[in-house]
Amino acid sequence: MQELFATLTPGTEEWRLAGLLDPARLPAHIAVIMDGNGRWAKLRGLPRAAGHKAGVEPVREVVETCARLGLECLTLYAFSMENWKRPRAEVDTLWRLLRYYLKAELPRLARNNIRLNVIGRPDSLPAQAFRELEETIARTAGNTGLRLNLAINYGGRQELTDAVNSILSEARRKGQLAGLVVDEEAITNHLYTAGMPDPDLLIRTSGEMRVSNFLLWQIAYAELYVTETLWPDFRKLDLLRALVEYQKRDRRFGGLTMGRTHSEVTEQWAETVPAGEPA
Ligand code: FPP
Repeated sequence: MQELFATLTPGTEEWRLAGLLDPARLPAHIAVIMDGNGRWAKLRGLPRAAGHKAGVEPVREVVETCARLGLECLTLYAFSMENWKRPRAEVDTLWRLLRYYLKAELPRLARNNIRLNVIGRPDSLPAQAFRELEETIARTAGNTGLRLNLAINYGGRQELTDAVNSILSEARRKGQLAGLVVDEEAITNHLYTAGMPDPDLLIRTSGEMRVSNFLLWQIAYAELYVTETLWPDFRKLDLLRALVEYQKRDRRFGGLTMGRTHSEVTEQWAETVPAGEPA
């Protein structure tokens, strides 16, 4: 939080919003559906590629802000499995932008102690983009700060399918296929996001009220925040607005936890249930 304040100007709206945040209740994981690049370009009479190009700056700003806030994970939906249906030239532009981002951002990722990761089926990417992605992941593997997941060639249903197949092949390898019972923990541990907290907050830009096959399992209890702002216009100020709104929400996780966090309630519950009695 201190690190973020060092980049803000006193008296600005960003400063005021940051001052409203409770550092102890920041989300551990934010996921973002970056939408509206095409509409942003159309509004300006520009080709769609110009919208994607303008979408790089908010990626930079959101990543750096999340790192400065000390968040654990940020997941950005950069390319869905359905995006292959777009014209070839647009898809090629997206790979070019990804390569540009990886090259230009490596020093910033290092400076901010950010570890890059990819979720999805990235091996279908053009060879050069795949190689550069792998290289950047390897180069940032020792960083211990924000974990930046780029969802590339990603689909939530495909992720669940991959998780189930991975459970089956593991059981087959160990000779434990007969009588195999799959539970929630097994699925969670075989997702692309294994070992990461579930997103607490899902942000979608450009006003669409859909989850678009994104992190279907992991967003079960995420707070949804949809803004009309188109992705190329999304800045630190918009992220702070989303965080202030998130902290106003009463996260109940299906229970009656009015105004308290999940861990507070779990702790209190553990205290009120006498040892040895069924919960
Ligand atoms: C959705 O907008 C956006 C995408 C499919 C691509 C997201 C890519 C970027 C933000 C570029 C840079 C990303 C990285 C990680 C370097 P849309 O084209 O569907 O917009 P529309 O709904 O207005 O047509």
